[in-house]
Amino acid sequence: MTQRTLVLLKPDAVQRGLVGEILGRIERKAGWSITALELRTLDRAILEQHYAEHVGKPFYQPLVDFMSSGPSVALIVTGERVVEGVRALVGPTDPIAAPPGSVRGDFGTVVRENLVHASDSEESAHREIKLFFPRLA
Ligand code: RTP
Ligand code: MG
Repeated sequence: MTQRTLVLLKPDAVQRGLVGEILGRIERKAGWSITALELRTLDRAILEQHYAEHVGKPFYQPLVDFMSSGPSVALIVTGERVVEGVRALVGPTDPIAAPPGSVRGDFGTVVRENLVHASDSEESAHREIKLFFPRLA
């Protein structure tokens, strides 16, 4: 089942020089490809749409402040079961609870600064690809 998913390497990943490490893990999965990639500082307008499900929650404003604090890398990954697969590669939201071997488990400690976003369903992937790469939607 070939799918596409939207991945963001968050400002902490870029600032800490972990872009190559994380992209390498994605690239080495058999049959997966990076089919779009852009370095970009995200503004409030795009973040408000991207994180619409979290508007009004206590962590929303600090999340937007963090996500707009420096450049991110946005990419589309294409391949077999990438929606579920990239979420597994990234690990659970809390990096302390994330297993070693996952990106968050290997490199994170703080929930907000958890290095990577990945679409959580095919429906979210369609919506997020349209938001970040409208010409490729
Ligand atoms: P993401 O959307 O970034 O891929 O992460 P996720 O699905 O694992 O987590 P989600 O529940 O969608 O939350 C989005 C991001 O908000 C920050 N967050 N902070 N209690 C908190 O302080 C808190 N909870 C969530 C994290 O950066 C999380 O990735
Ligand atoms: Mg999420």
